[in-house]
Amino acid sequence: MNYFQTLKYKIKKKKATICIIGLGYVGSAILKKLQKENFQTIGIDTDKKKLRNKNRHKKTILTSNYKYIKSADVIIVTLPTPLTSNMSPDLSYIKDCLKRMKKHIKKGQLLSLESTTYPGTTDDIIGNYLRKKKFVISKNYFLVYSPERISPELKVRDRKIKYNLTNTPKICAGYSNRCSILGKELYKKITKKVVIASSLKIAETSKMIENVFRSVNIALVNELKMFLHKMDIDINEALDLAGTKPFGFTKFTPGPGYGGHCIPLDPFYLYWLAKKNNFNLNFIKNSAMVNRKITTWITDKILKFIKNNKINLVNKKILILGVAYKKNIDDIRESPALKIAENFYKAGYDFDYSDPYISKIRFKNTIKKSKKINANLLKRSKIVLIATDHDKFNYDLISKKAKFIFDSRNVIKNRSKNYFKV
Ligand SMILES: NC(=O)c1ccc[n+]([C@@H]2O[C@H](COP(=O)([O-])OP(=O)(O)OC[C@H]3O[C@@H](n4cnc5c(N)ncnc54)[C@H](O)[C@@H]3O)[C@@H](O)[C@H]2O)c1
Repeated sequence: MNYFQTLKYKIKKKKATICIIGLGYVGSAILKKLQKENFQTIGIDTDKKKLRNKNRHKKTILTSNYKYIKSADVIIVTLPTPLTSNMSPDLSYIKDCLKRMKKHIKKGQLLSLESTTYPGTTDDIIGNYLRKKKFVISKNYFLVYSPERISPELKVRDRKIKYNLTNTPKICAGYSNRCSILGKELYKKITKKVVIASSLKIAETSKMIENVFRSVNIALVNELKMFLHKMDIDINEALDLAGTKPFGFTKFTPGPGYGGHCIPLDPFYLYWLAKKNNFNLNFIKNSAMVNRKITTWITDKILKFIKNNKINLVNKKILILGVAYKKNIDDIRESPALKIAENFYKAGYDFDYSDPYISKIRFKNTIKKSKKINANLLKRSKIVLIATDHDKFNYDLISKKAKFIFDSRNVIKNRSKNYFKV
């Protein structure tokens, strides 16, 4: 059997050893699924904390040593793809990983990149690397790109999640037809439905579009929120009405801005590529501007209220409910709640917070611990901002006991004269 046939057979029969590089949100979820499928697995992470507890399994080697790549048939790369300080793609994690694997990769392996990135990356960075190392891609080495779509909600265990790794269709593109066949064989073991893209670039672009779509639509409703507030028109009711149209409309809900590891960052990968090619993707830039502006708009509304009503805050602190970037998750990356906290800090105010999923946060070199919500805390805080609408909050208690409520998520139904929608 040649390399292709051997690898196809091994994956199909679950005899392949699969190595995951980067055991973060994405990598650990994939590792878990492969462990469940009884594959021999290797988990590589440079952060020793990721090599403990939840990633452990009898058929898994957890290590930060890249030498184990030698024993892998399949390598799945799930490394971060952040932005540099000037908002251009930072592929340093991927490049660093390629450097570290240099001595250990071998003929007959399949490498899949899952990190979100701009069209062209897989071939430019990994394809070129393999060619330089004298591999003949699709003959003695195989390369695919398969963008990850899972949501960080997977980390929260006490809720049923509608879409997960298994029931979300997985896009996969091969460098060649043979690579696609191997990619499909692999991802069939992870998800129910694998959708094959005609090229690496198309698959990379599809992920970009998914994230740009969300960024632009979140910005649209947030901009409308600021305008309709001025016109004294309830945006949420208007959106609910528009949402009754069964076709041609997807409802997005306004909030305090956007957050997470993906939506605020990924569109700039495409923006950067467009700029490099003398094209201006205005929608991407404008949506980022609006999604940042809304956090300032909310802060300004609250600060103005404090000033106009001469509210005397205890220790100049407001209370922020929810610091995760969206409901029912434990992820604070790029969270708008923290940006609002930062705005308050700049204006000379401090804050306490409560979040059932985040026990502590680091803010300005201090550690803040989540407070338990009770009548006393709500009354004492005077100004309460609902930044994240976790289901675990007792909204009845909040609406009864808080002195002034600023609700950025339209979650309080029992509204008094001290309720303000922002
Ligand atoms: N988090 C999500 O929900 C999500 C969803 C879809 C796509 N993505 C994309 O998937 C990719 C990974 O995202 P994530 O959220 O899992 O990131 P993460 O930051 O949670 O995890 C990355 C892991 O890689 C490790 N790491 C860094 N450098 C390393 C190296 N050289 N070798 C080995 N390990 C190394 C880190 O220690 C970390 O554990 C990104 O491109 C992201 O945009 C993420």
